[in-house]
Amino acid sequence: MSLGSVLVTGGTGYIGSFTALALLEAGYKVVITDNLYNSSAEVVNRIELICGKKPEFVQADITDPTAFDKVFTAYPDIDSVIHFAALKAVGESGEKPLDYYLVNVYGTINLLRSMQKHNVTNIVFSSSATVYGDATRFPNMIPIPEECPLGPTNPYGNTKFAVETAITDFINAQRNNLTKAGKPEEAEKWNAALLRYFNPAGAHPSGIMGEDPQGVPYNLLPLLAQVATGKREKLLVFGDDYASRDGTAIRDYIHILDLSNGHLLALNYLRSNHPGVRAWNLGTGRGSTVYEMIKAFSHAVGRDLPYEVAPRRAGDVLDLTSNPTRANKELGWKTERTLEQACEDLWRWTKNNPQGYRQQPPAELLEA
Ligand code: NAD
Ligand code: WQD
Repeated sequence: MSLGSVLVTGGTGYIGSFTALALLEAGYKVVITDNLYNSSAEVVNRIELICGKKPEFVQADITDPTAFDKVFTAYPDIDSVIHFAALKAVGESGEKPLDYYLVNVYGTINLLRSMQKHNVTNIVFSSSATVYGDATRFPNMIPIPEECPLGPTNPYGNTKFAVETAITDFINAQRNNLTKAGKPEEAEKWNAALLRYFNPAGAHPSGIMGEDPQGVPYNLLPLLAQVATGKREKLLVFGDDYASRDGTAIRDYIHILDLSNGHLLALNYLRSNHPGVRAWNLGTGRGSTVYEMIKAFSHAVGRDLPYEVAPRRAGDVLDLTSNPTRANKELGWKTERTLEQACEDLWRWTKNNPQGYRQQPPAELLEA
């Protein structure tokens, strides 16, 4: 029995594709929209290979004000949206901030307007730990709880903060207006989850689904994977003079399957508990340094990977480790996979798919 239909924007991307898979496996129907700016439609076939069900795919740009009206008209049973589509490169956001505001903020406004028009009442939004900025500026805020004051430090983070605010204002207005109109049952249908992810990592254990960025990667693990395959000579370690146990910066790396499961549980929570707007951290609560990550990924690959210490990267902070207690308690969510599994799964995906989704994986993986 289907639980209903969910629109997944940016659903051919890394986190969106794994969330589409989790939704299908749980019994939801899924409609994906994406303009394929940073992804490939082949992932839809891989999702089907893994779970035996295929999401619908509509190629659409979120900056097109008519895009969502068309989707909601074509699929009138959609009652919830998980909104991933965005630009996400922190460095690039400093060079092209208007592109980031256009896609991330204006694109979301288009989505919210269409949701209002078509009475699509639940939204799960991909926010980011980056909205906290440097939490070490406050005492006792590491690991970071949701109550930590927000303070993004780059244009990308500013767009995530702006969208969190817009969604909060929109959902609150919908609820207030419907309550004033004497429709409290309609009012409580409007709900939003603001999911603040820490550092997503890994791939599907089958080796046939993973992250396939279209340009040059800039995140630590995809870069380490390129060092392992020889596409890159060595990893540059951005700073070894942080006040951490080994001098390198600390992040909270979360397996992509745990992260995607968090979306499923957040959506279920919105639909049954009607909380209004609620933020949840999705992280493991355990921090790893850059050196620890090099060691863990080298272990998965089976040999030491070369690196060199370089100056700190502008805008980096010492420590982004989550306090995930709220999601643990309220959503019944906990991470189940280790960093070692994330590294092994990433390596299996990388070595079997040197061209990402542009090439079929080895037959033995497809048959497994
Ligand atoms: P991704 O780039 O793999 O996925 C984003 C998808 O959005 C891509 O498939 C891209 O083609 C699509 N897209 C971009 N612009 C679009 C447009 N104008 N119209 C329609 N589709 C468009 O990135 P991801 O890592 O899967 O991230 C998904 C979401 O999670 C993003 O909102 C990102 O900001 C957020 N997030 C990511 C991370 C991370 O480290 N990966 C961490 C925290 C938050
Ligand atoms: C991790 C650590 C680097 C590359 C970013 C965004 C955040 C979120 C996740 C979207 C840092 C170090 C990295 C390298 C290195 N994305 N590093 N050499 O910066 O924690 O978070 O992605 O929302 O918003 O800011 O992730 O993977 O880039 O870096 O030493 O070549 O690895 O300095 O300490 P980050 P990352």
